[in-house]
Amino acid sequence: MSNKAKIIEYLAQASTPLSGEQLSQQLGVSRTMVWKYIQLLNEEGYSIQAIKKKGYVLHGLSNQLTKENLDYYLTTRHFAREFTSFETCNSTQIVANEQLLQRDVAHGAVFVSEEQTAGKGRLNRPWSSSKGKGLWMTWVLKPNLLPHEAPPITLVVALAVAKAIATTTGIQVDIKWPNDLLIDGKKTGGILTELQATPDKIEAILVGIGLNVLHESNDFGVDLSSIATSLQLHCEQPVNRLQLLAAVASELESAVEQFETSGFQPFQHQWEQHSKMIGQEITATTVRETITGTAVGLNEFGALLVSTDDGVRTLFSGDVTLSGKLDSLS
Ligand code: BTN
Repeated sequence: MSNKAKIIEYLAQASTPLSGEQLSQQLGVSRTMVWKYIQLLNEEGYSIQAIKKKGYVLHGLSNQLTKENLDYYLTTRHFAREFTSFETCNSTQIVANEQLLQRDVAHGAVFVSEEQTAGKGRLNRPWSSSKGKGLWMTWVLKPNLLPHEAPPITLVVALAVAKAIATTTGIQVDIKWPNDLLIDGKKTGGILTELQATPDKIEAILVGIGLNVLHESNDFGVDLSSIATSLQLHCEQPVNRLQLLAAVASELESAVEQFETSGFQPFQHQWEQHSKMIGQEITATTVRETITGTAVGLNEFGALLVSTDDGVRTLFSGDVTLSGKLDSLS
């Protein structure tokens, strides 16, 4: 752990101000050095007050997406240990793809950006990614799976992200097949999965996750405000993006491991419980046709089962609209 991270830990645990002398002894560095670290931490977005003759008090943790800040929350073995962040980029999917072509990117590596200028959603729809408001991230997975076993990964990820949101904010998001996270029918997150594989081997899966976190109502603009929402709009406490990112890392690490060893079956029932769409009238649009019926569940491969007048249909991909709702936003 770095000296700056240690200072944050000592201050977070202290119930009274910690003097420069105490910190310098604990760290084994001079008081001037302690003062310099405090300056740097404040520049990085922490809020540390120096009270005359008493010492330092921590008032707030940083919300900036840096490796050092994230390390404070991270409990994983591999996930997010390789962490690359940008102030701005076109799309973290594009950046991750470029990096994969240039070097050996680790399983569980993540690329995060404060802003994306060309964020993309499923079916080539644009993904609005405004600065400092969300978590715009791409995870690189190199799982021990065959290419045909990969498709349910989107559902596994959606469930992991829903759990991370629940532990961090207390919000129970609704999962809409195959890749949407909703609150009260409005979209708060989406997942874009891109597979790089030869017929026999997965080279990498790029899992792009977009989460609307800190948006206020007027951040969405007229076209999005009726169909999009953010976590902060539904949470009384300030939502900490770093804590959420660390929780996503931890849930993803265990979910991906379980998916590698046991397939989708252990997730099937949990997914159905998290999704309000089961039992509802839906319209599903696939490349070939439009199907209307009742969503009755998932099969063991993550395909959606829809009961129609012609019997139960099995959907492996498509775009789903809940009857009467405009929710096909990307
Ligand atoms: C969807 O719901 O259509 C999926 C949206 C995925 C958006 C994320 S944001 C991070 C990553 N970079 C992108 O350009 N897209 C994904």
